[in-house]
Amino acid sequence: MTYRSGAERFYDLFGTKDDVNFYRELAHENGDRALELGVGTARLAIELARDGVEVWGIDNSEHMLRAARRKIAKEPPEVRSLITLRRADVRDFDLHETFPFIYFPAYTFDHLLIREDQINALRCIHRHLRPSGVYAFDLAHVREGEPNSDWFIERRDLGEGQMVVRSGFLRRDYTARKASIDLFYDVYVDGKMKERYHEYGEVYIHTPEGIRELLEENGFRIKAFYGDHRKKPFTEESKEMVIITEKRGSP
Ligand SMILES: C[S@@+](CC[C@H](N)C(=O)[O-])C[C@H]1O[C@@H](n2cnc3c(N)ncnc32)[C@H](O)[C@@H]1O
Repeated sequence: MTYRSGAERFYDLFGTKDDVNFYRELAHENGDRALELGVGTARLAIELARDGVEVWGIDNSEHMLRAARRKIAKEPPEVRSLITLRRADVRDFDLHETFPFIYFPAYTFDHLLIREDQINALRCIHRHLRPSGVYAFDLAHVREGEPNSDWFIERRDLGEGQMVVRSGFLRRDYTARKASIDLFYDVYVDGKMKERYHEYGEVYIHTPEGIRELLEENGFRIKAFYGDHRKKPFTEESKEMVIITEKRGSP
């Protein structure tokens, strides 16, 4: 997914919202020092910092980092001082730091479309984790036999006669392990459409077996494999895979 200027101001209105407790709890259990990959608008990083966690965040989109900095600037000094942002690509980064906890939320590992990118990201994560450090992340769980296409539409009231409507068209090719999405954000003022933003992105469709193998082969031991962020056991019916791993000695 390429994140361009404009629509980032709407991201926090939509999308994953029930993952805060999950990642915050893990950060507390693992040294109160964390690295978030694909930090975006700092939706989670700010929540963790408000709770006393030192958070580093990387993202390869300057637009997203700018939106994050704007939000962080509104926080009190004790929260601001806990957050460090860097522009970097998860497939190739070196922060000269190690962390007891790294997390990659909001199905962003799915954005790595080829095996080489997935392995390179896991190698970077492994290098940045302290011995026995914890790496947690989530993925969409697309089941074989789900419809090849799907669409959705949702709206949010912005107040003062303004509204934003997000609609999307999703295509899935289970055999090719690829899904693509067209996302539209339409901004209405007093019932008239004033702005439209369009984004296109592709994601990789992981299977539970495939991701287990990839993690094991790249130096991670799976500690827990859930079906959601409330730690419900994973089943074939689960809509997501929420995974906690621990760094093994060598990748
Ligand atoms: C779905 S958003 C998630 C944002 C944030 N983590 C959250 O949970 O709200 C994905 C973010 O990952 C970033 N991203 C995608 N691919 C990346 C890559 N290869 N390297 C670094 N950041 C990446 C995007 O720019 C975007 O900000």
